[in-house]
Amino acid sequence: MTLPPKPPSRPDKVSLWRYLRLFRADILSAQPARLYRAWMAEFRTPFFRSYLCNDPQLIDLVLKERPADFPKSDRIREGLAPLLGNSVFVTNGEVWKRQRRIIDPAFEGGRLRDTFPAMWEASLAARDRLMKNASQEIEIEQITSHAAADVIFRTLFSIPIEHKVAAEVFTQFREYQRTQPLLNLAAFLPIPKWMPRFHRRSTRTTAKAIRALITGLTAQRMQEIAAGTAPDDLATKIMTTADPVTGDRFDVEEMVDQVAIFFLAGHETSASALAWALYLLATHPEVQERVAEEVASLGETPDFSAVSRLKFTRDVFREALRLYPPVPMMVRENTCPETFRGRSVAPGAQIVISPWHVQRHERIWTNPDVFDPDRWQTEACRHAAREAWLPFSAGPRVCTGAGFAMIEGPLILAVLVQAFRFEPVAGKVPVPVAHLTVRAKDGIWLRPVPRFAFSKYPRGAAGGGRPPASSVDGGADGPPAA
Ligand code: HEM
Repeated sequence: MTLPPKPPSRPDKVSLWRYLRLFRADILSAQPARLYRAWMAEFRTPFFRSYLCNDPQLIDLVLKERPADFPKSDRIREGLAPLLGNSVFVTNGEVWKRQRRIIDPAFEGGRLRDTFPAMWEASLAARDRLMKNASQEIEIEQITSHAAADVIFRTLFSIPIEHKVAAEVFTQFREYQRTQPLLNLAAFLPIPKWMPRFHRRSTRTTAKAIRALITGLTAQRMQEIAAGTAPDDLATKIMTTADPVTGDRFDVEEMVDQVAIFFLAGHETSASALAWALYLLATHPEVQERVAEEVASLGETPDFSAVSRLKFTRDVFREALRLYPPVPMMVRENTCPETFRGRSVAPGAQIVISPWHVQRHERIWTNPDVFDPDRWQTEACRHAAREAWLPFSAGPRVCTGAGFAMIEGPLILAVLVQAFRFEPVAGKVPVPVAHLTVRAKDGIWLRPVPRFAFSKYPRGAAGGGRPPASSVDGGADGPPAA
């Protein structure tokens, strides 16, 4: 059995200098193999202490039981300030609580149902765009990134990615990510408060450009809300929700901070998960065919409830999130003296929770490195998942978009696998690296072979429809007609 790609681990002992260099290149291959077996690991350097916690009880303590004592450090906020300002991703305490009170209702079950038509249209648009590359070798992360960005714009502002402002924000974000990763060395290194923070000029310029574009969209929406002409989407929902405690709402600037993080946290993560899921399907053709069979159950004009029928596809997506968690590590700082597994942890240490390690932990999961979506129907897996599956984090600071992503991911997978049989490209095995999210060093290359001629697609309102269910299992019958 071929195991899905895993980054090489570093030797157990390396110099601090080498560690920092490895870390800078990629935090995953900078770690020793023993972290897949250890319950906790302490990293001592002359400058900082850091504790990686794999013990489920410690993870619960930090994320669920006493999260207020383990806030996000100021370094994370400072690193991202030019783009995110005071967004919910970087704030702590009362400011963060108020922001979540206003944002959370927009992502609750009932509201998610309302976003389904926009997600569906975005999935069909992604399929239609991919048709242009049918049967060619393509880098799939670009495709999934485009698709996930489209989902965010359609659900948040009711505009497709082709809209001038949306397309410009998307391009500028790519530029931004090249200069400023979300998870970088600075987040782990305690730089003294007196030391000035520098952001590259290019980072500041791009952040400013993105914020100007988002400000335009947000200010326009504020006017539409006042005029009673605003569409009923996530932006309107968030901007019209009053904090139940203070009664106030987001002003334009605060909303811009939130839109920036929805875009940043919401599209790179989903794009990464989808790309890895497609790679896993391409390398496990029998699993891919089971997904294709299940997709027929969507029906001709699916509604929100159809997603709940995609049980196996959802297990595939869960398993992809286990093996390739888009956010591989999360960092907190302890504010009180703690004792972790008998060791004293002084305030100000870095507490690292690593979905990457705990989701492949050898003492928690059976065959941790194997891609096995069927495991999700076993009691052993459910037990392991309760304590050690945290691609969306856990506790009060859990990802706001978790429910959203668990609809979007299986849906896009289903629509793409219904139209194409994905094949791996010989000689191109992706090597996972963690920068902004878990990506592949030289991209993820696949060949999408159409399962039937494109002309057989009924054309729907969105410019795309679904193929007849009976065609789902068919093989490729030539290049698309359109
Ligand atoms: C597969 C897709 C996704 C994954 C794996 C993911 C993962 C995560 C993780 C691990 C965190 C916690 C980070 C930390 O505490 O350091 C987080 C936070 C967050 N995510 Fe997601 N996310 C995904 C999709 C989304 C989407 C679609 C949205 C919004 C549309 C979103 C919005 C946010 C926000 C606003 C936060 C900050 C929450 C807070 O700190 O209170 N995410 N996400």
